[in-house]
Amino acid sequence: MKHRNLISINDFSKEEQIKILDIAEEFEKNPIQKILDDYVVATLFFEPSTRTRLSFESAASRLGAKVIGFSSSASSSVSKGESLNDTILTVSNYSDIIVMRHPKDGSARYASEVSPIPIINAGDGANQHPSQTLLDMYSIRKTQGTLENLNIAFVGDLKYGRTVHSLTMALTQYNTTFHLVSPTELKLPSYVKRHIKDKNLAYHQYTEMMDVIPKADIIYMTRIQKERFSDPMDYEKVKNAYNLENDMLENAKDNMRVLHPLPRVNEISKDVDANPKAYYFTQALNGVFVRQALLATILGAK
Ligand code: CP
Repeated sequence: MKHRNLISINDFSKEEQIKILDIAEEFEKNPIQKILDDYVVATLFFEPSTRTRLSFESAASRLGAKVIGFSSSASSSVSKGESLNDTILTVSNYSDIIVMRHPKDGSARYASEVSPIPIINAGDGANQHPSQTLLDMYSIRKTQGTLENLNIAFVGDLKYGRTVHSLTMALTQYNTTFHLVSPTELKLPSYVKRHIKDKNLAYHQYTEMMDVIPKADIIYMTRIQKERFSDPMDYEKVKNAYNLENDMLENAKDNMRVLHPLPRVNEISKDVDANPKAYYFTQALNGVFVRQALLATILGAK
């Protein structure tokens, strides 16, 4: 994986994905390893982020790397009209790897084609979020003891949810049964369902969340993403589609865990947070170990 890009989750083989999870486990046991002292990590965020940017920056710091970058287009020369091409070519002179988030689908792939240094896609529009997928896989494996033969329920915005798209693709490698809960307007896109069908796996579509709670090993909640709707009225129609409350979890399996890539708005009530089945904040912590593994591996230190 040395000097490779991570744009789509499919850029890494199943074995390579597992290797990242195994290295992340080592970092969880021993997080401070100054093995990237001589490296500079650039984080270019053209779209807002809390977890992805800060966990990559925390991961880099724990490895001894220096971090440069920006957290919005407004604070970069993009606001003066600079192109993505010119931004990437410039920043590649200052750093050894670029972690990039951008609102346009396909922007990370484009950046990787012009960049002389590796690019990690930290989310491109509604397309993919592969480092999130690896931390989601890490969280699932850690809580369930396996990735094989699980019932995974995705709830919410399955149309625009890039974390759902890349995680679905990854889980098709593990004989997963998919339970897809969304408003009709926000169903999982056909091109993602095609990955499920190609592996002859089962998927079931629902509009009601209660139907899947007793069946699920993982309930993966997602936010209805206001910023992805071109017509605000369409968002208004679906914005309150789901709200997971603590008492709704009474019939869940003992070992079921609730995941969410976060941020949440109103789709998980605060009363769920104290339930031992709520795993989303630990999931966000796992992101640091997984991103340490990614930086160390791509920069050739692991
Ligand atoms: N999960 C995730 O991508 O969160 P942020 O938008 O805060 O980075």
